[in-house]
Amino acid sequence: MKNSIVILDFGSQYTQLIARRIRELGVYTEIYPYSIGLEGVKELAPSGVILSGGPSSVHDSDAPLLAPGFFDIGIPILGICYGMQLMSHLMGGKVEKATNREYGRAQLVVGEPVSQLFKDVEIRSVVWMSHGDSVVRLAPGFEQIATTSDNDLAAIQNSKRSIYAVQFHPEVAHSEQGKKILSNFIFGICGMTKNWSMRDFVDKQIEDIRKVCANKKVVLGVSGGVDSTTLAVLMNKAIGEQSEAVFVNNGLLRWNEADEVQKSLRERLNLNIRYIDASEQFLGALKGEKDPEKKRKAIGKVFIDVFWHAVKDFDYLVQGTLYPDVIESAPVKGPSRTIKTHHNRVAEVEKLEKEGRILEPFRFLFKDEVREVARILGMPEDILNRHPFPGPGLAVRVIDDVTPEKLDILRRADKIFIDALHKYGWYDKVWQAFAVFMPIRSVGVMGDERAYGNVIGLRAVTSVDGMTANWGHLPYELLDEAGNTIIRQIREVNRVVYDITSKPPATIEWE
Ligand code: XMP
Repeated sequence: MKNSIVILDFGSQYTQLIARRIRELGVYTEIYPYSIGLEGVKELAPSGVILSGGPSSVHDSDAPLLAPGFFDIGIPILGICYGMQLMSHLMGGKVEKATNREYGRAQLVVGEPVSQLFKDVEIRSVVWMSHGDSVVRLAPGFEQIATTSDNDLAAIQNSKRSIYAVQFHPEVAHSEQGKKILSNFIFGICGMTKNWSMRDFVDKQIEDIRKVCANKKVVLGVSGGVDSTTLAVLMNKAIGEQSEAVFVNNGLLRWNEADEVQKSLRERLNLNIRYIDASEQFLGALKGEKDPEKKRKAIGKVFIDVFWHAVKDFDYLVQGTLYPDVIESAPVKGPSRTIKTHHNRVAEVEKLEKEGRILEPFRFLFKDEVREVARILGMPEDILNRHPFPGPGLAVRVIDDVTPEKLDILRRADKIFIDALHKYGWYDKVWQAFAVFMPIRSVGVMGDERAYGNVIGLRAVTSVDGMTANWGHLPYELLDEAGNTIIRQIREVNRVVYDITSKPPATIEWE
């Protein structure tokens, strides 16, 4: 792996951001758990190593450590936060446990003579701190190269051995000169050259897929969403008809969605699609079920049954695993790590994995990088900008047991709302928007009579990544038109409400 950077992860919530920043600088990088240690890094033979931050204290009895000989590896090393404390601790310095975490903005003051790490970095700039322990005595051979305006230690180096460390987080956007600092490490200190662009990545993937899949039959599932569609287009470009995309209609899709998705995949993207309508099986499995998690489980199980039944003879299964899933499944200790449950990691998939029959071309990509791949592959913007839609579909938007009647009401209301968003130019301004069927009835007057009707909730949110979200401040005219049209056209509905909660505390979906 010459001309790459290896990031050793000690559990920081920012580890993935380090990788993002380095790729943005045009250099290839991969994250590994710290536990691969000296031997693992030697084997990878990168041009430089970054030790991430992490929630631990070096004094914890179960602190994640490296062998002391690690620092004799002869490859440039940059420690960030915990990485700085760890190297100081292991190389003979002193780290003191703090009672409080220092958290937030600080002013970085670069010292003289200016270290190579701070070449062309402004003398004073804002950086983002988030640490508990502090280095109180430097390890032999190290010198201080920057402080904060409060005179705290901010960065150190042992330039003879090409070892550098910063107490702050250069990878976060709040650290104004962070990118410059990382760039100095990568290009100046590690002597690397640019070697990563998305176009190169796509070309390389196509080449690899062609090699691995020569004369093989390959299958994948598609939903019409951005990730799976991009994957299907990539596979098609690499091996054409040898790759088959299976689209399962679970009966929980939106208005006319099954037809539209097939049409766009077949006619606009020229994909080889197998369509399976398993609506009845899914609705049968959901009958009478009101518990959201049980609904999800039932849907996951039927999906696997249907998919597996349909695709018996194949050599490889392609999955749209993204980098955050790969990282979050890695065994790194620390509270910032939650292990994701992959609903598709069923026994059959695990068996294929053992046999080496799973392909994951996107396993090193972040979500927004998939969109970039889609653009490079020439996919139309409207397909690329579709709102995310949950795998269990409308089942998690019927807040009740799922019946064809409720689905029908929900589909019609949802379509009216989405049409209004398009009409007012708001579809692309929100992350997601949808209608929800509520399990309550409310009173109203229809004609001269009191009547009990259904309640529909509307939700639109803005978000960058779906992890946090704000409720969408839609224009009153849009809401007015959507609400009135729903009441007018859907006899069963007599009340429409708009959801004004953010995430957190609420989630985007209601179930
Ligand atoms: P929440 O509701 O957790 O949603 O704020 C975050 C994003 O995830 C989608 N979502 C799901 N996607 N299976 C999925 O494939 C699910 O069970 C599921 N639940 C929520 C949601 O639509 C939003 O984009």
